[in-house]
Amino acid sequence: MKLSWVSMIARLLSCCPNLHTYKVQGTKVRWMPLGDSITDYGCWRAWIWQRFQKDGYDIDLVGGEKAGENCSGLAFDRDHEGHPGFLAIDIVSKSQLVGWLKANPADIITVHLGTNDIYQRNIKTTDITTALGTLIDQMRTSNPATRIIVAQIIPLPAKDKQVQELNSAIPALAASKNSTVSPVWVVNQWTNFTTADLGSDRIHPSASGDIKIADKFYPALVRAISSIEKQEGR
Ligand SMILES: *[C@@H]1O[C@H](CO)[C@@H](O)[C@H](O)[C@H]1NC(C)=O
Ligand SMILES: *[C@@H]1O[C@H](CO)[C@@H](O)[C@H](O)[C@H]1NC(C)=O
Ligand SMILES: *[C@@H]1O[C@H](CO)[C@@H](O)[C@H](O)[C@H]1NC(C)=O
Repeated sequence: MKLSWVSMIARLLSCCPNLHTYKVQGTKVRWMPLGDSITDYGCWRAWIWQRFQKDGYDIDLVGGEKAGENCSGLAFDRDHEGHPGFLAIDIVSKSQLVGWLKANPADIITVHLGTNDIYQRNIKTTDITTALGTLIDQMRTSNPATRIIVAQIIPLPAKDKQVQELNSAIPALAASKNSTVSPVWVVNQWTNFTTADLGSDRIHPSASGDIKIADKFYPALVRAISSIEKQEGR
């Protein structure tokens, strides 16, 4: 019996569940989610992983931490580098990222940091952006072609004026660090994020906040993956 065009096309489309198994020097593309508790507890990583699966991206999440959250029972790669309570300036002064990247090198790194610098110690915007710049340098020492996605961070009602000041300084920092081999992209996680998207502590994302964070980071991750694909000539 002859196959109809429709069923042939359906077969072709279903043949290859992973359409984007990009590898860099033989290993899967590695994404490190770097941050504090907003990255650690946040189920946004689970939502992103689900979308990777759905869209056929075979991506390895990397980092020395393993998420313990249930996340509505969603399956996901639990590796990450989110450290509850950590300040960007401390990660730099203790050279912690250097060791984290030695243990778990990455091709793409998302950064959501600054909340604790502001919340715990009212660190000046310029000191936070200087720390973020040093972290970017350290990423490139580990992997000169790191794709970097820096978040303008989610609101922090207790000190949101400082958050907005940091967020407005991030694009200039990112532009000053940008390069063709190691692009830096900014993702604005602050806009459209309401108090309903924060949990009762008014610091961490609620379930709706997790989905908003995932929705913002996801296209940036896909863009980073395709820039690796282009560089590798696939
Ligand atoms: C995780 O949550 C789902 C539904 O929200 C539940 O069915 C499941 O038992 C939970 N798993 C664990 C290990 O707590
Ligand atoms: C950095 O360069 C890339 C192109 O390589 C561009 O897409 C991106 O917007 C630039 N980032 C910033 C912060 O200007
Ligand atoms: C803002 O959030 C709502 C959900 O609360 C979503 O439907 C909408 O697409 C978001 N808009 C933007 C511009 O992200």
